[in-house]
Amino acid sequence: MVESAVSTSITAVCRACGGSLDCFMSLGSQPVAQISPERPTEQTQIRYELRPSICLHCGLFQLIETPLPYIMFTNTYPYFSSTSAKMTYHLQKLSESVASELDVAGDPFVVEVGSNDGTFLKLIAEHGLRHLGVEPAEGAANIARSMGVSVLVTFFDSSTALQIRQSHGQADVIVGANVLAHMPSIIDVAKGIADLLKDDGLFVFEAIYLPDLLRCNMFDQLYGEHVFTFSVSSVRKVFAKCALELIDVCHVDVQGGSMRYVLAHRGRKNVAESVSHFIDFESRFGLGRADTYHMFAERCHKIRNDLRFLLGDLRKRQYRVVGYGASAKSTTLFNWCELDSSIVEYVTDCTKEKQGHYIPGTSIPVRSPEFFAQDRPDYALLSAWNHRTEIEAKEQHFRRRGGKWIVYVPEVATA
Ligand code: TYD
Ligand code: ZN
Repeated sequence: MVESAVSTSITAVCRACGGSLDCFMSLGSQPVAQISPERPTEQTQIRYELRPSICLHCGLFQLIETPLPYIMFTNTYPYFSSTSAKMTYHLQKLSESVASELDVAGDPFVVEVGSNDGTFLKLIAEHGLRHLGVEPAEGAANIARSMGVSVLVTFFDSSTALQIRQSHGQADVIVGANVLAHMPSIIDVAKGIADLLKDDGLFVFEAIYLPDLLRCNMFDQLYGEHVFTFSVSSVRKVFAKCALELIDVCHVDVQGGSMRYVLAHRGRKNVAESVSHFIDFESRFGLGRADTYHMFAERCHKIRNDLRFLLGDLRKRQYRVVGYGASAKSTTLFNWCELDSSIVEYVTDCTKEKQGHYIPGTSIPVRSPEFFAQDRPDYALLSAWNHRTEIEAKEQHFRRRGGKWIVYVPEVATA
Protein backbone atom coordinates (compact mmCIF):
# COMPACT_ATOMS: atom_id res chain seq x y z
CA MET A 1 0.00 0.00 0.00
CA VAL A 2 1.34 3.47 -0.80
CA GLU A 3 0.30 6.87 0.47
CA SER A 4 0.37 9.30 -2.43
CA ALA A 5 1.28 12.96 -2.22
CA VAL A 6 -2.41 13.81 -2.56
CA SER A 7 -3.32 12.13 0.71
CA THR A 8 -4.85 8.96 -0.60
CA SER A 9 -3.99 5.35 -0.02
CA ILE A 10 -3.62 3.25 -3.18
CA THR A 11 -3.17 -0.49 -3.15
CA ALA A 12 -2.19 -2.91 -5.90
CA VAL A 13 -3.08 -5.99 -3.82
CA CYS A 14 -5.77 -7.01 -1.32
CA ARG A 15 -5.60 -4.91 1.83
CA ALA A 16 -6.28 -8.01 3.94
CA CYS A 17 -4.46 -10.94 2.33
CA GLY A 18 -2.15 -9.53 -0.34
CA GLY A 19 -4.02 -11.43 -3.11
CA SER A 20 -4.53 -10.12 -6.67
CA LEU A 21 -7.42 -7.73 -7.28
CA ASP A 22 -9.85 -7.76 -10.21
CA CYS A 23 -10.75 -4.11 -10.79
CA PHE A 24 -14.02 -4.38 -12.72
CA MET A 25 -15.10 -0.74 -13.12
CA SER A 26 -14.24 2.90 -12.52
CA LEU A 27 -16.68 5.53 -11.27
CA GLY A 28 -14.26 8.23 -12.31
CA SER A 29 -12.36 10.89 -10.44
CA GLN A 30 -14.16 11.74 -7.18
CA PRO A 31 -13.82 14.34 -4.43
CA VAL A 32 -14.03 13.45 -0.72
CA ALA A 33 -17.70 12.68 0.05
CA GLN A 34 -20.12 14.40 2.48
CA ILE A 35 -20.14 18.21 1.97
CA SER A 36 -17.85 21.03 0.87
CA PRO A 37 -17.61 24.63 2.04
CA GLU A 38 -17.65 27.48 -0.49
CA ARG A 39 -13.93 28.15 -0.07
CA PRO A 40 -11.44 25.46 -1.05
CA THR A 41 -9.75 23.55 1.80
CA GLU A 42 -7.15 20.79 1.86
CA GLN A 43 -10.05 18.33 1.83
CA THR A 44 -11.75 19.84 -1.24
CA GLN A 45 -8.51 19.74 -3.27
CA ILE A 46 -8.21 15.98 -3.07
CA ARG A 47 -9.40 13.72 -5.87
CA TYR A 48 -9.14 9.97 -6.10
CA GLU A 49 -10.24 7.46 -8.71
CA LEU A 50 -13.21 5.45 -7.46
CA ARG A 51 -12.37 1.91 -8.54
CA PRO A 52 -14.03 -1.03 -6.77
CA SER A 53 -12.33 -4.41 -7.04
CA ILE A 54 -12.62 -7.94 -5.75
CA CYS A 55 -9.82 -10.00 -4.23
CA LEU A 56 -9.38 -13.17 -6.24
CA HIS A 57 -8.00 -14.93 -3.17
CA CYS A 58 -10.17 -14.04 -0.13
CA GLY A 59 -13.14 -12.44 -1.92
CA LEU A 60 -12.87 -9.12 -0.04
CA PHE A 61 -14.58 -6.37 -2.05
CA GLN A 62 -12.54 -3.17 -1.75
CA LEU A 63 -11.58 0.15 -3.29
CA ILE A 64 -8.19 0.41 -4.95
CA GLU A 65 -7.80 4.03 -3.85
CA THR A 66 -9.29 5.93 -0.92
CA PRO A 67 -8.56 9.26 0.80
CA LEU A 68 -6.64 8.70 4.05
CA PRO A 69 -8.96 8.47 7.09
CA TYR A 70 -7.65 11.68 8.69
CA ILE A 71 -8.79 13.57 5.56
CA MET A 72 -12.34 12.17 5.78
CA PHE A 73 -13.09 11.87 9.49
CA THR A 74 -12.35 15.38 10.64
CA ASN A 75 -13.65 17.27 13.67
CA THR A 76 -16.50 18.57 11.55
CA TYR A 77 -17.47 15.22 9.96
CA PRO A 78 -21.19 15.83 9.36
CA TYR A 79 -22.74 12.33 9.57
CA PHE A 80 -24.91 11.78 12.65
CA SER A 81 -26.71 8.48 13.23
CA SER A 82 -29.49 10.32 15.05
CA THR A 83 -30.67 12.20 11.91
CA SER A 84 -32.57 9.05 10.96
CA ALA A 85 -35.38 7.87 13.24
CA LYS A 86 -35.00 4.39 11.74
CA MET A 87 -31.26 4.22 12.45
CA THR A 88 -31.81 5.58 15.97
CA TYR A 89 -34.41 2.89 16.68
CA HIS A 90 -32.17 0.23 15.17
CA LEU A 91 -29.15 1.20 17.29
CA GLN A 92 -31.28 1.46 20.43
CA LYS A 93 -32.55 -2.09 19.82
CA LEU A 94 -28.99 -3.32 19.36
CA SER A 95 -28.00 -1.51 22.53
CA GLU A 96 -30.88 -3.11 24.48
CA SER A 97 -29.97 -6.57 23.26
CA VAL A 98 -26.27 -6.10 24.18
CA ALA A 99 -27.21 -4.72 27.63
CA SER A 100 -29.58 -7.63 28.31
CA GLU A 101 -26.81 -10.19 27.61
CA LEU A 102 -24.35 -8.66 30.06
CA ASP A 103 -23.79 -9.94 33.58
CA VAL A 104 -24.04 -6.68 35.51
CA ALA A 105 -22.57 -8.28 38.65
CA GLY A 106 -19.31 -8.88 36.76
CA ASP A 107 -18.81 -5.13 36.04
CA PRO A 108 -18.87 -5.60 32.26
CA PHE A 109 -17.11 -3.22 29.87
CA VAL A 110 -18.51 -2.28 26.44
CA VAL A 111 -16.44 -0.58 23.73
CA GLU A 112 -17.89 0.97 20.59
CA VAL A 113 -15.57 1.59 17.66
CA GLY A 114 -16.79 4.65 15.73
CA SER A 115 -19.29 5.77 18.38
CA ASN A 116 -20.39 8.82 16.34
CA ASP A 117 -23.00 10.88 18.24
CA GLY A 118 -23.53 8.22 20.93
CA THR A 119 -26.83 6.86 19.60
CA PHE A 120 -25.76 3.29 20.51
CA LEU A 121 -23.83 3.94 23.74
CA LYS A 122 -26.38 6.32 25.29
CA LEU A 123 -28.52 3.48 26.56
CA ILE A 124 -25.49 1.52 27.82
CA ALA A 125 -24.42 4.67 29.71
CA GLU A 126 -27.95 5.11 31.12
CA HIS A 127 -27.79 1.55 32.48
CA GLY A 128 -24.68 2.67 34.40
CA LEU A 129 -22.52 0.15 32.52
CA ARG A 130 -18.81 0.75 32.02
CA HIS A 131 -18.26 1.77 28.42
CA LEU A 132 -16.02 3.69 26.08
CA GLY A 133 -16.66 5.04 22.60
CA VAL A 134 -13.75 5.56 20.20
CA GLU A 135 -14.49 8.29 17.69
CA PRO A 136 -12.12 10.44 15.62
CA ALA A 137 -14.74 13.10 14.75
CA GLU A 138 -14.73 15.48 17.73
CA GLY A 139 -18.02 17.19 16.79
CA ALA A 140 -19.91 13.89 16.90
CA ALA A 141 -18.00 12.82 20.04
CA ASN A 142 -19.04 16.00 21.86
CA ILE A 143 -22.71 15.31 21.15
CA ALA A 144 -22.23 11.85 22.68
CA ARG A 145 -20.44 13.32 25.70
CA SER A 146 -23.28 15.78 26.30
CA MET A 147 -25.52 12.72 26.82
CA GLY A 148 -23.23 11.15 29.42
CA VAL A 149 -21.29 8.87 27.06
CA SER A 150 -17.51 8.48 27.61
CA VAL A 151 -15.54 8.94 24.40
CA LEU A 152 -11.88 8.73 23.46
CA VAL A 153 -11.34 11.04 20.47
CA THR A 154 -9.02 9.08 18.23
CA PHE A 155 -8.91 6.47 15.46
CA PHE A 156 -9.20 2.84 16.51
CA ASP A 157 -6.18 0.71 15.67
CA SER A 158 -3.99 -1.84 17.47
CA SER A 159 -2.18 0.82 19.49
CA THR A 160 -5.47 2.45 20.62
CA ALA A 161 -6.67 -1.04 21.61
CA LEU A 162 -3.54 -1.55 23.71
CA GLN A 163 -3.99 1.86 25.34
CA ILE A 164 -7.63 1.04 26.27
CA ARG A 165 -6.64 -2.38 27.56
CA GLN A 166 -4.05 -0.77 29.82
CA SER A 167 -6.36 1.97 31.09
CA HIS A 168 -9.72 0.13 31.32
CA GLY A 169 -8.98 -3.59 30.98
CA GLN A 170 -10.38 -5.93 28.30
CA ALA A 171 -13.88 -5.62 26.88
CA ASP A 172 -16.81 -8.02 27.25
CA VAL A 173 -18.37 -6.68 24.07
CA ILE A 174 -16.92 -4.60 21.23
CA VAL A 175 -19.41 -3.09 18.79
CA GLY A 176 -18.91 -1.39 15.42
CA ALA A 177 -21.97 -0.09 13.54
CA ASN A 178 -21.15 0.85 9.94
CA VAL A 179 -17.54 1.59 10.69
CA LEU A 180 -15.36 -1.48 10.06
CA ALA A 181 -15.92 -0.97 6.34
CA HIS A 182 -14.30 2.45 6.72
CA MET A 183 -10.94 1.21 8.03
CA PRO A 184 -8.30 0.62 5.32
CA SER A 185 -5.84 -1.01 7.77
CA ILE A 186 -8.37 -3.73 8.50
CA ILE A 187 -5.85 -6.35 9.68
CA ASP A 188 -4.33 -3.95 12.21
CA VAL A 189 -7.86 -3.11 13.41
CA ALA A 190 -8.71 -6.83 13.70
CA LYS A 191 -5.51 -7.36 15.73
CA GLY A 192 -6.61 -4.55 18.04
CA ILE A 193 -10.07 -6.10 18.47
CA ALA A 194 -8.55 -9.51 19.26
CA ASP A 195 -6.22 -7.94 21.81
CA LEU A 196 -8.90 -5.86 23.51
CA LEU A 197 -11.57 -8.59 23.66
CA LYS A 198 -11.83 -10.80 26.76
CA ASP A 199 -11.37 -14.55 26.20
CA ASP A 200 -15.15 -15.06 26.26
CA GLY A 201 -16.03 -11.66 24.80
CA LEU A 202 -18.07 -10.92 21.70
CA PHE A 203 -17.29 -8.61 18.82
CA VAL A 204 -20.45 -7.48 16.99
CA PHE A 205 -20.33 -5.37 13.88
CA GLU A 206 -22.68 -4.30 11.13
CA ALA A 207 -21.92 -3.31 7.58
CA ILE A 208 -23.59 -3.02 4.19
CA TYR A 209 -23.98 -6.51 2.72
CA LEU A 210 -22.25 -7.16 -0.60
CA PRO A 211 -25.02 -9.26 -2.24
CA ASP A 212 -27.54 -6.48 -1.46
CA LEU A 213 -25.25 -3.87 -2.99
CA LEU A 214 -24.76 -5.97 -6.12
CA ARG A 215 -28.38 -7.12 -6.48
CA CYS A 216 -29.85 -3.61 -6.10
CA ASN A 217 -27.15 -1.86 -8.14
CA MET A 218 -26.20 0.43 -5.27
CA PHE A 219 -23.25 2.01 -7.06
CA ASP A 220 -23.57 5.09 -4.83
CA GLN A 221 -22.70 3.07 -1.73
CA LEU A 222 -19.22 3.17 -3.22
CA TYR A 223 -17.22 6.17 -2.01
CA GLY A 224 -13.93 6.69 -0.22
CA GLU A 225 -15.28 6.00 3.26
CA HIS A 226 -16.60 2.57 2.24
CA VAL A 227 -13.24 1.06 1.45
CA PHE A 228 -14.70 -2.43 1.99
CA THR A 229 -18.08 -4.02 1.34
CA PHE A 230 -18.17 -7.23 3.35
CA SER A 231 -19.77 -10.60 2.80
CA VAL A 232 -20.05 -13.50 5.23
CA SER A 233 -17.36 -15.42 3.33
CA SER A 234 -14.88 -12.53 3.27
CA VAL A 235 -15.45 -11.60 6.94
CA ARG A 236 -14.82 -15.20 7.98
CA LYS A 237 -11.48 -15.26 6.12
CA VAL A 238 -10.25 -11.78 7.03
CA PHE A 239 -10.81 -12.04 10.79
CA ALA A 240 -9.52 -15.62 10.95
CA LYS A 241 -6.09 -14.06 10.33
CA CYS A 242 -6.29 -12.71 13.89
CA ALA A 243 -7.83 -15.89 15.34
CA LEU A 244 -11.31 -14.35 15.49
CA GLU A 245 -14.07 -16.76 14.48
CA LEU A 246 -17.36 -15.78 12.87
CA ILE A 247 -19.96 -17.46 15.08
CA ASP A 248 -23.26 -15.94 13.96
CA VAL A 249 -24.72 -13.64 11.31
CA CYS A 250 -28.08 -11.95 10.89
CA HIS A 251 -29.38 -9.88 7.99
CA VAL A 252 -30.63 -6.42 9.04
CA ASP A 253 -32.72 -3.94 7.12
CA VAL A 254 -30.68 -0.74 7.39
CA GLN A 255 -28.52 1.17 4.87
CA GLY A 256 -30.22 -0.60 1.97
CA GLY A 257 -29.40 -4.07 3.39
CA SER A 258 -26.75 -4.89 5.99
CA MET A 259 -25.37 -7.88 7.85
CA ARG A 260 -24.70 -8.17 11.57
CA TYR A 261 -21.58 -10.25 12.21
CA VAL A 262 -20.83 -11.78 15.62
CA LEU A 263 -17.26 -12.95 16.25
CA ALA A 264 -15.42 -14.52 19.19
CA HIS A 265 -11.93 -15.81 19.90
CA ARG A 266 -11.41 -19.03 17.90
CA GLY A 267 -12.87 -22.11 19.60
CA ARG A 268 -14.54 -20.23 22.47
CA LYS A 269 -18.16 -20.37 21.23
CA ASN A 270 -20.40 -22.59 19.12
CA VAL A 271 -20.79 -21.57 15.49
CA ALA A 272 -24.46 -21.04 14.54
CA GLU A 273 -25.92 -22.61 11.39
CA SER A 274 -26.58 -19.14 10.00
CA VAL A 275 -22.90 -18.89 9.02
CA SER A 276 -22.88 -21.92 6.70
CA HIS A 277 -26.36 -20.99 5.48
CA PHE A 278 -25.10 -17.60 4.22
CA ILE A 279 -21.84 -19.04 2.88
CA ASP A 280 -23.93 -21.41 0.71
CA PHE A 281 -26.20 -18.56 -0.32
CA GLU A 282 -23.21 -16.42 -1.37
CA SER A 283 -21.75 -19.24 -3.39
CA ARG A 284 -25.06 -19.73 -5.24
CA PHE A 285 -25.35 -15.94 -5.65
CA GLY A 286 -22.05 -15.98 -7.52
CA LEU A 287 -19.80 -13.93 -5.23
CA GLY A 288 -16.91 -16.13 -6.36
CA ARG A 289 -17.51 -15.50 -10.08
CA ALA A 290 -15.93 -12.60 -11.99
CA ASP A 291 -18.98 -12.14 -14.23
CA THR A 292 -21.14 -11.24 -11.18
CA TYR A 293 -19.10 -8.05 -10.79
CA HIS A 294 -18.80 -7.28 -14.49
CA MET A 295 -22.58 -7.58 -14.89
CA PHE A 296 -23.08 -5.27 -11.88
CA ALA A 297 -20.86 -2.72 -13.63
CA GLU A 298 -22.96 -2.97 -16.80
CA ARG A 299 -26.21 -2.44 -14.89
CA CYS A 300 -24.76 0.61 -13.12
CA HIS A 301 -23.66 2.13 -16.44
CA LYS A 302 -27.22 1.66 -17.70
CA ILE A 303 -28.61 3.48 -14.63
CA ARG A 304 -26.16 6.33 -15.24
CA ASN A 305 -27.31 6.63 -18.88
CA ASP A 306 -31.02 6.33 -18.05
CA LEU A 307 -30.78 8.95 -15.30
CA ARG A 308 -28.86 11.41 -17.45
CA PHE A 309 -31.42 10.93 -20.22
CA LEU A 310 -34.41 11.42 -17.89
CA LEU A 311 -32.96 14.54 -16.23
CA GLY A 312 -31.94 16.03 -19.59
CA ASP A 313 -35.42 15.42 -20.93
CA LEU A 314 -37.12 16.98 -17.86
CA ARG A 315 -34.92 20.01 -18.22
CA LYS A 316 -35.75 20.38 -21.90
CA ARG A 317 -39.42 20.35 -20.89
CA GLN A 318 -38.61 23.06 -18.31
CA TYR A 319 -39.39 21.04 -15.21
CA ARG A 320 -37.48 21.98 -12.07
CA VAL A 321 -35.50 19.18 -10.43
CA VAL A 322 -33.85 19.17 -6.99
CA GLY A 323 -32.21 16.43 -4.92
CA TYR A 324 -33.21 15.05 -1.50
CA GLY A 325 -30.49 13.90 0.91
CA ALA A 326 -26.96 15.32 0.88
CA SER A 327 -25.72 11.85 1.78
CA ALA A 328 -22.19 10.70 1.10
CA LYS A 329 -23.84 8.55 -1.57
CA SER A 330 -24.94 11.69 -3.39
CA THR A 331 -21.29 12.70 -3.93
CA THR A 332 -20.74 9.55 -5.99
CA LEU A 333 -24.08 9.97 -7.75
CA PHE A 334 -23.62 13.59 -8.82
CA ASN A 335 -19.96 13.29 -9.75
CA TRP A 336 -20.15 10.00 -11.62
CA CYS A 337 -23.31 11.04 -13.47
CA GLU A 338 -21.81 14.51 -14.07
CA LEU A 339 -24.82 16.41 -12.74
CA ASP A 340 -24.46 20.04 -11.76
CA SER A 341 -26.76 22.82 -10.56
CA SER A 342 -28.02 23.50 -14.10
CA ILE A 343 -29.71 20.06 -13.88
CA VAL A 344 -30.29 19.58 -10.13
CA GLU A 345 -30.79 23.03 -8.58
CA TYR A 346 -30.06 22.13 -4.96
CA VAL A 347 -30.22 19.23 -2.55
CA THR A 348 -32.45 19.29 0.54
CA ASP A 349 -31.10 17.92 3.82
CA CYS A 350 -32.25 18.22 7.43
CA THR A 351 -28.68 18.22 8.81
CA LYS A 352 -27.96 21.80 9.90
CA GLU A 353 -24.20 21.25 9.50
CA LYS A 354 -24.72 20.48 5.78
CA GLN A 355 -27.05 23.37 4.88
CA GLY A 356 -25.31 26.27 3.12
CA HIS A 357 -22.54 23.96 1.91
CA TYR A 358 -22.17 22.17 -1.43
CA ILE A 359 -22.22 18.65 -2.79
CA PRO A 360 -18.46 18.08 -3.21
CA GLY A 361 -17.11 18.51 -6.72
CA THR A 362 -20.29 20.30 -7.87
CA SER A 363 -21.96 23.69 -7.75
CA ILE A 364 -25.06 22.14 -6.11
CA PRO A 365 -25.92 23.83 -2.77
CA VAL A 366 -27.57 22.12 0.21
CA ARG A 367 -30.82 23.69 1.47
CA SER A 368 -33.18 23.05 4.39
CA PRO A 369 -36.42 21.03 4.18
CA GLU A 370 -38.29 24.30 4.96
CA PHE A 371 -36.84 25.85 1.81
CA PHE A 372 -37.88 22.76 -0.18
CA ALA A 373 -41.43 22.95 1.23
CA GLN A 374 -41.85 26.58 0.13
CA ASP A 375 -40.03 26.24 -3.17
CA ARG A 376 -42.30 23.61 -4.75
CA PRO A 377 -40.01 22.04 -7.37
CA ASP A 378 -41.52 19.55 -9.85
CA TYR A 379 -39.20 16.59 -9.22
CA ALA A 380 -36.97 15.47 -6.36
CA LEU A 381 -34.15 13.01 -7.00
CA LEU A 382 -34.08 10.85 -3.88
CA SER A 383 -30.37 10.58 -3.12
CA ALA A 384 -31.19 9.27 0.38
CA TRP A 385 -33.21 6.36 -1.08
CA ASN A 386 -32.35 4.22 1.96
CA HIS A 387 -34.57 6.54 4.03
CA ARG A 388 -37.36 6.57 1.46
CA THR A 389 -40.24 5.58 3.77
CA GLU A 390 -39.22 8.08 6.43
CA ILE A 391 -38.71 10.93 3.95
CA GLU A 392 -41.88 10.28 1.95
CA ALA A 393 -43.87 10.25 5.20
CA LYS A 394 -42.37 13.63 6.21
CA GLU A 395 -42.80 15.21 2.80
CA GLN A 396 -46.36 14.19 1.93
CA HIS A 397 -47.12 17.79 0.92
CA PHE A 398 -44.66 17.42 -1.98
CA ARG A 399 -46.71 14.63 -3.61
CA ARG A 400 -49.99 16.32 -2.75
CA ARG A 401 -48.94 19.40 -4.70
CA GLY A 402 -48.08 17.28 -7.74
CA GLY A 403 -44.35 16.76 -7.03
CA LYS A 404 -42.75 13.49 -8.15
CA TRP A 405 -39.88 11.48 -6.70
CA ILE A 406 -37.12 10.12 -8.91
CA VAL A 407 -35.33 7.00 -7.71
CA TYR A 408 -32.36 5.35 -9.41
CA VAL A 409 -31.76 2.12 -7.51
CA PRO A 410 -32.33 -0.65 -8.39
CA GLU A 411 -33.33 1.20 -11.58
CA VAL A 412 -34.41 4.64 -12.70
CA ALA A 413 -38.11 5.33 -12.04
CA THR A 414 -40.44 8.17 -11.10
CA ALA A 415 -43.10 7.84 -8.42
P1 TYD B 1 -27.34 8.48 4.91
O1 TYD B 1 -27.94 7.69 3.83
O2 TYD B 1 -27.81 8.15 6.27
O3 TYD B 1 -25.80 8.33 4.95
P2 TYD B 1 -24.56 8.41 3.96
O4 TYD B 1 -24.08 9.82 4.13
O5 TYD B 1 -23.69 7.41 4.61
O6 TYD B 1 -24.88 8.08 2.53
O7 TYD B 1 -27.57 10.03 4.60
C1 TYD B 1 -28.86 10.46 4.48
C2 TYD B 1 -28.91 11.96 4.46
O8 TYD B 1 -30.27 12.34 4.35
C3 TYD B 1 -28.36 12.61 5.73
O9 TYD B 1 -27.56 13.74 5.37
C4 TYD B 1 -29.60 13.07 6.47
C5 TYD B 1 -30.60 13.26 5.37
N1 TYD B 1 -31.97 13.02 5.79
C6 TYD B 1 -32.91 14.05 5.64
O10 TYD B 1 -32.56 15.15 5.15
N2 TYD B 1 -34.19 13.83 6.04
C7 TYD B 1 -34.59 12.65 6.58
O11 TYD B 1 -35.78 12.48 6.93
C8 TYD B 1 -33.62 11.60 6.72
C9 TYD B 1 -34.02 10.27 7.29
C10 TYD B 1 -32.33 11.83 6.30
ZN1 ZN C 1 -7.79 -10.85 -0.16
